[in-house]
Amino acid sequence: MERLDDMVIVAAGPGDAGALAEVHVTAWRETYRGLLPSAYLAQMNTGLYARRWRRQLMAARPPEIVLAAEARDGLVGYCAGQTRGDDASAEVSTLYVLQTAQKLGLGRRLLAASARVLRARGAGSLTLWVLNGNTPARGFYEHLGGVAVAERVVRGWGGGFRETAYHWADIDSLARLA
Ligand SMILES: CC(C)(COP(=O)(O)OP(=O)(O)OC[C@H]1O[C@@H](n2cnc3c(N)ncnc32)[C@H](O)[C@@H]1OP(=O)(O)O)[C@@H](O)C(=O)NCCC(=O)NCCS
Repeated sequence: MERLDDMVIVAAGPGDAGALAEVHVTAWRETYRGLLPSAYLAQMNTGLYARRWRRQLMAARPPEIVLAAEARDGLVGYCAGQTRGDDASAEVSTLYVLQTAQKLGLGRRLLAASARVLRARGAGSLTLWVLNGNTPARGFYEHLGGVAVAERVVRGWGGGFRETAYHWADIDSLARLA
């Protein structure tokens, strides 16, 4: 069992690509079992994601900020997001904490820290999309004040799926969470 006191939130760099990919694939298999096709989850390839993360994090101007939660023996979660060019809003594209490190406050810390970085880049509001069937994540976002504002159909991951957008009109409400 992990302890929150043993964790730090850090900005991820290219050297974290392999660990991010491990968390990415493990967290997807933990989270989406029964929600996404098992064949899709089974074919997820850590090496492929490691190369993608490395390429993204080595870019001269990375499109996304990527924060990672680091425990004594490695990464246990991450959050990525970006500001949108068209207005003063931000989107968190991905937030994952491994099952062994959930319910310790790490998800809140990752989201709050990301909101602070995105606010510093000019964002005044924040949105993220969640799979409709991901009830625990929806409960978490609602607990932190997110409001469901839109729905869309996404094609990919071996099928077609509905997602809901959660919105925080004032990014400060997230940024000030500890
Ligand atoms: C969803 C997730 C990010 C939440 O992170 P976490 O570290 O487990 O949650 P935290 O411990 O930070 O919880 C923060 C607060 O939310 C509350 N909370 C957590 N899950 C909740 C739920 N399902 N319903 C209501 N409240 C919830 C906690 O009780 C806590 O409340 P408090 O601040 O008043 O004490 C994490 O569980 C996760 O990665 N899940 C799998 C991946 C996933 O679904 N990601 C989202 C994809 S869009």
